[in-house]
Amino acid sequence: MSKAIPSIPWSTIYIIRSPINPAIIVTNVGVNSFERRRTNFFIVRATMTVLSRTVAIVTGGSSGLGAATARYLAQNGARVLVGDLGHQQETFQRMANESGLPVVATSSHQGPALAFCEMDVTNSNQIEAALDKVEDIYGEPVNAAISCAGIAVAAKTLSKKGPHSYEDFMKVLTVNTGGTFNVARLAAERMSRREPEGKDGLRGCIINTASIAAYEGQIGQVAYAASKGGVVGMTLPMARELAPLGIRVMTIVSSLCATC
Ligand SMILES: NC(=O)c1ccc[n+]([C@@H]2O[C@H](COP(=O)([O-])OP(=O)(O)OC[C@H]3O[C@@H](n4cnc5c(N)ncnc54)[C@H](O)[C@@H]3O)[C@@H](O)[C@H]2O)c1
Repeated sequence: MSKAIPSIPWSTIYIIRSPINPAIIVTNVGVNSFERRRTNFFIVRATMTVLSRTVAIVTGGSSGLGAATARYLAQNGARVLVGDLGHQQETFQRMANESGLPVVATSSHQGPALAFCEMDVTNSNQIEAALDKVEDIYGEPVNAAISCAGIAVAAKTLSKKGPHSYEDFMKVLTVNTGGTFNVARLAAERMSRREPEGKDGLRGCIINTASIAAYEGQIGQVAYAASKGGVVGMTLPMARELAPLGIRVMTIVSSLCATC
C-alpha cells in the first residue's frame, strides 16, 4: 500500500520506495529533503521477512547498523556470518553475548546462530574465505549478502589546510563503493550455485547500504557522498544483471540510524 508523503516529524521513521528505481529504498529523516524537492517518492509498508533458511553474510556486522542487522536476522531464525575487520572481533563477541545467540565455528550448524570471520571488504581473498566459512559452518552457500561496512572522512574539497587529500578520497571510495561491489560480485557467484526456490526461482538477495548523502551531501562529505552515489548507481544495473539468476539487489539509502 502506498500514498503521497505527508508532512512528518523528523523523529518518525518512514521507508520510501523510489518509483523510478524500485531497488532504491530511502529511509528516515531524508524524507523532508525529498519533500522539499517535491520528488515523487512513496511511503510503503515495510516488513522484513526472515526465513529460517536464510544464510546471510553481513559485512561490518560487529558495529552499528551491521550489528543490529546481524542480530535481528539471527534472532528471527537466520544463520549469520559477520565479516568484519579483525580488531572488531571483541565488539562482535559482546554483541553476540548480549543477544543470547550461539556463536558457532563448527561444521553444518542448523539452528539460528552467529559466526565471525575476519574480513576486509577490499580484500577479495578474505571475502572468498568468509564465503567458504559460511558453507563450512552452515552447510550451504549464502542466500543473503548485506553490506554494512563503511567509513567516512570529514574534509572539504578545499579548506584552510589545503586541498582534500586525494588518498583519503580514494580510500573512502575503495572501501564504500569498491568494497560493496566486491562483496556483491563474490556473493552473487555463491548464490548462483544454489537451487532456485519458489515460483520466482529466487536464489538470493543482495542488500547494499548507501546514504542520503548520495543525494543530499553536506559540507565536508564530498568523499563519502561520492562513494555512496557510486553504490546507488551500481544498484540498478546489478539488479538487472542478476535478475535472470534469481538474485534480487537493493540499496538502502538511509539518513541517521537509531544505531548511531
Ligand atoms: N549510522 C548512520 O546513521 C548511517 C546513515 C547512513 C548510512 N550509513 C551507512 O551504514 C553503514 C554502517 O554505518 P554505521 O554507522 O553502523 O558504521 P559503524 O562505524 O558503526 O560500522 C561500520 C563497520 O564497518 C566495518 N568496516 C570498516 N571498514 C571495513 C572494511 N574495509 N572491511 C570490513 N569491514 C569494515 C567497521 O569495522 C565497523 O564494524 C555504513 O556504510 C554507513 O555509511 C550509516
